[in-house]
Amino acid sequence: MRKTICLLPGDGIGPEILAQGAACLKAVAAKYGHEFIFVDALIGGAALDATGQPLPQATIDSCLGADAIYLGAVGGPKWDAAAPESRPERGILGIRKALGLFANLRPARLWPELAGACLLRADIAAKGLDLVVVRELTGDIYYGEPRGLESRNGLRTGYNTMLYNEEEIRRIAKIAFETAMGRSKKVCSVDKSNVLETSRLWKEVVNETAMLYPGIELSHMYVDNAAMQLVRDPSQFDVLLTGNIFGDILSDEATVITGSLGMLPSASLGKANPGLFEPIHGSAPDIAGTDQANPLATILSGAMLLRLGLGMPEEAQCIENAVRETLAAGYRTPDIMEKGKVATGCKGMGQEVLKRI
Ligand code: IPM
Ligand code: MG
Repeated sequence: MRKTICLLPGDGIGPEILAQGAACLKAVAAKYGHEFIFVDALIGGAALDATGQPLPQATIDSCLGADAIYLGAVGGPKWDAAAPESRPERGILGIRKALGLFANLRPARLWPELAGACLLRADIAAKGLDLVVVRELTGDIYYGEPRGLESRNGLRTGYNTMLYNEEEIRRIAKIAFETAMGRSKKVCSVDKSNVLETSRLWKEVVNETAMLYPGIELSHMYVDNAAMQLVRDPSQFDVLLTGNIFGDILSDEATVITGSLGMLPSASLGKANPGLFEPIHGSAPDIAGTDQANPLATILSGAMLLRLGLGMPEEAQCIENAVRETLAAGYRTPDIMEKGKVATGCKGMGQEVLKRI
């Protein structure tokens, strides 16, 4: 098959890790007789520097013209003082909104090969951790209006609006239930309905939507409790359904307790437009250019791109197997290094995976 993939390297370690991810996709294309056409576009700080905007129209056009979008990471201290509307993060928020990518899937699992890196007590880790955060991505306090900074009664005042309508809740709830159908059929919906009106509606609509999925076991949890339960016993969770801000926070927590933030991929999907695939971690400006970054989250995001973006499950599995084999052979970047393993860098790790594709 002939497919176009838009590459958005971004900032910090973004370009390094995405180079390894794209190389793996090329290898898969060669192996399975596909033709992948890669188109580069600017986003985040790189786009700000070149064009003065974090998300130039040309980038939106390239994304719209592609079959899938593959992103590195955005942001860095260089742009920290920028005004809110011209921060690199606005690039990624803008592309999610422009393409209607409302469903963010963030699988977190404890790789058996990396059990030693897990931050949890051994008896808790032994119960396992294999969950997926289904996070709403184009609503909530991230986008709600009104928002702003102003002076009220002579005091500098900032405000944002947490806002969801029932349709936004229903469509992400459906994604969570459908995701759960292919797993262990358990969904835990996260809210703060003891305090927030937005959350009361969230819970109500999730309950209504659940009626369409009689096979699913649905539970509800307040977000503070969910944050606590995630470290106390993550094995109780399968699909965690969240709004945008709660999902942002809980997905970082869920992934870091696996001990390997550098390992976890994500997919952002909409109705009609191409999906966007990126590692969960950020741009790690402190190690950019030093060949220390772990490219596996990006490479695994490439597998999600193949499976969910291009409908190529076998090709996706091929990448995932290559990653497993590389880890089993003992290769480790600094973030997941353990005694007795083979130290390697970003390029080295990419090469090892490539060999096994
Ligand atoms: C994420 C990131 C983004 C978010 C930032 C970079 C805007 O933290 O994808 O989790 O908050 O959604
Ligand atoms: Mg985040």
